[in-house]
Amino acid sequence: MTLLDDGQVLGNAAPMGATSSSTNPFLAGNMAPVDVETTAVNLTITGTLPAELCGRYLRNGPNPVTPPDPATYHWFTGTGMVHGISLRDGRAEWYRNRWVRNDEVVATLGESAPPNPWPADHMSFSANTNVIGFAGRTLALVEGGAPPVELDDELATVAISDLDGSLPYSFSAHPKLDAATGELHVMAYYWGWGNRVQYLVVGTDGRVRATRDIELPGSPMIHDTAITERYALVFDLPVLFDMEAAMAGSLPYRWFHDYQPRIGLVPRDDAPDGVAGNPHGDVQWFNIDPCYIFHPLNAYDEITPDGGRRVVLDAVRHPKMFDTERRGPNEGRPRLDRWVLDLDSGSVSTSTLDDHPQEFPRIREDLVGRRHRYGYTAGLGSGLSQDTLCRIDTTTGTVVRRTDNDRMGYGEPVFIPRDGSTAEDDGWVMALRHDRDTDRSDLCVFSADALADDPVAVVHLPVRVPNGFHGNWIAEN
Ligand SMILES: [Fe+2]
Repeated sequence: MTLLDDGQVLGNAAPMGATSSSTNPFLAGNMAPVDVETTAVNLTITGTLPAELCGRYLRNGPNPVTPPDPATYHWFTGTGMVHGISLRDGRAEWYRNRWVRNDEVVATLGESAPPNPWPADHMSFSANTNVIGFAGRTLALVEGGAPPVELDDELATVAISDLDGSLPYSFSAHPKLDAATGELHVMAYYWGWGNRVQYLVVGTDGRVRATRDIELPGSPMIHDTAITERYALVFDLPVLFDMEAAMAGSLPYRWFHDYQPRIGLVPRDDAPDGVAGNPHGDVQWFNIDPCYIFHPLNAYDEITPDGGRRVVLDAVRHPKMFDTERRGPNEGRPRLDRWVLDLDSGSVSTSTLDDHPQEFPRIREDLVGRRHRYGYTAGLGSGLSQDTLCRIDTTTGTVVRRTDNDRMGYGEPVFIPRDGSTAEDDGWVMALRHDRDTDRSDLCVFSADALADDPVAVVHLPVRVPNGFHGNWIAEN
């Protein structure tokens, strides 16, 4: 549907079967997909949108283009749909949502397939997890072997991407941008590689400039990575490829009780001079207690006063994953924990930063890999609801929570620094918010140091945006 100023309606719609009352919790309520593509312009704003916010907020997430089987549908497998809001000079220019084109989408919508440089037998499931701007391109991303998909500025699919022929095979939904170098660090996996993952570095030109294969005891799902100035981290955790699950048509990964969970430190080839890490050295492994990590908040190197070498990792810890629940992540309360890896002794210490259930941790992006203080997360309420925004001060332990009880559901918070800001929290937090009473969504802009207060601006969308995965603010250059 295209909803224009004059109310004219045009555009793509797909046959839908999922409803807000589905028996599959990942197809119910605001997890249910929408069935139209919408364009709306000149959106209504409550409050004052900061004039310097010029760019696009984009967010990806699963939105099946054809009705899935509720009995076997896994949230991670739904067709990708990117939602976007363009802001400029205090105005909200447009909202768009577009399915990320793949074979299933173009067949359903009666379109021709986008250009695809990969062989016909390359993995081709939907790029449904994240969307980034990098090297002048907008890329929809997924893990596990399917390629990135390039979108244009208005979210139309341009082409399936191989990063100008530089990508060996698999990418990741969670590349980590080092603000100092402008490069992406990526931990890629693919079941077809067997017990191996691949660490990639993508240069500022958008091309993969370095790869390193890392052998593992098993074939884990590695959803994300973290970087420090010296290392890239491998989360070698007990969610492993399982052929039986693959044959059953669901997500081909499940929990393995007997697999030793580990975190690996891969030396970066651009580590600064004078550090102890050997750029071409062995991966240093640390055993940890059983858990699953989808998302780190951040990691950084630390030198103790007596010269000890440590890596500090803050991440959301799930007690386990995909053991009894095979339709999505729902295996106990995820909390924000800290792991301190002692590089000299090989020991690990852990502590809890915030035991409120939460996910989707984000920091100020130019601190990725460097010491941070503040984290922003989506707090979880009953069931699968995300009813709270959290701001965690990891220095003082203070947590600010914003909740609107059962009425509002919040997506992943994204921090946007004020131009020229020096204080870590001088900026805004953006998050999509779903109103259960009106069944519509808004884009909320909060002052990052006043998360409990009313948002400084609310951009009202004419539609519902289903709960999804990850988004980013792509500032206009
Ligand atoms: Fe993720």
